[in-house]
Amino acid sequence: MTHARPGAVLVTGATGRVGRLVVDELLRAGVSVRALTRRPEEVAFPPGTQVVTGDLTVPASLDDALDGIDAVFLVWTASIDSAAAVVAQLATHSLAQRRRVVYLSAPHRTPHPFFQQPNPLRGLHAEVERLLAIAALDVVVLRPGMFASNALHWWAPQIRSGDVVRWPYGAAESATSRP
Ligand SMILES: NC(=O)c1ccc[n+]([C@@H]2O[C@H](COP(=O)([O-])OP(=O)(O)OC[C@H]3O[C@@H](n4cnc5c(N)ncnc54)[C@H](OP(=O)(O)O)[C@@H]3O)[C@@H](O)[C@H]2O)c1
Repeated sequence: MTHARPGAVLVTGATGRVGRLVVDELLRAGVSVRALTRRPEEVAFPPGTQVVTGDLTVPASLDDALDGIDAVFLVWTASIDSAAAVVAQLATHSLAQRRRVVYLSAPHRTPHPFFQQPNPLRGLHAEVERLLAIAALDVVVLRPGMFASNALHWWAPQIRSGDVVRWPYGAAESATSRP
């Protein structure tokens, strides 16, 4: 496969709410972007985007996507099972230099009980962060609070069908609970 231009960034989750915006911002900044998706025939990206096929649950499917990449914007919504193999791949795949990984995590370290309840997502992000921390990578971890867009994508259908969104910790401030 043709190597991406120097400084190229692989965006995983590129068809999702966050990744799609990251693709736009990188292109606007003049950065060479590779967008990962499992279903390239169904999606459209702006001109200049290099669309690559790959599945985070099948590490070998990422070989071409990682070839010649300098940085990865990593969104992990897949099962944790393949995370160790994928992180190892990020650290070793045709490494010309330390590869930077920006990982979209979640607010699992926020002390409020809402964010401290045991749940699978919290465990997943903590584990991916742990794997990245011990790998030979330059890692930046993002732990944003709740996305305001949850109101649109998660709660709007719930409100339409039942008119109630239950919120266990009313005092927990978030983008979605502030007026
Ligand atoms: N919602 C919140 O309030 C909030 C707050 C903080 C952090 N987060 C974190 O943000 C992340 C979700 O971001 P988002 O909302 O932008 O995602 P999203 O809109 O749900 O999109 C999911 C993306 O993941 C990709 N994907 C799913 N399974 C995959 C696989 N096996 N291999 C490769 N790609 C796969 C999908 O790509 P294709 O279908 O094209 O393959 C899609 O682009 C989660 O990790 C979540 O914990 C969310």
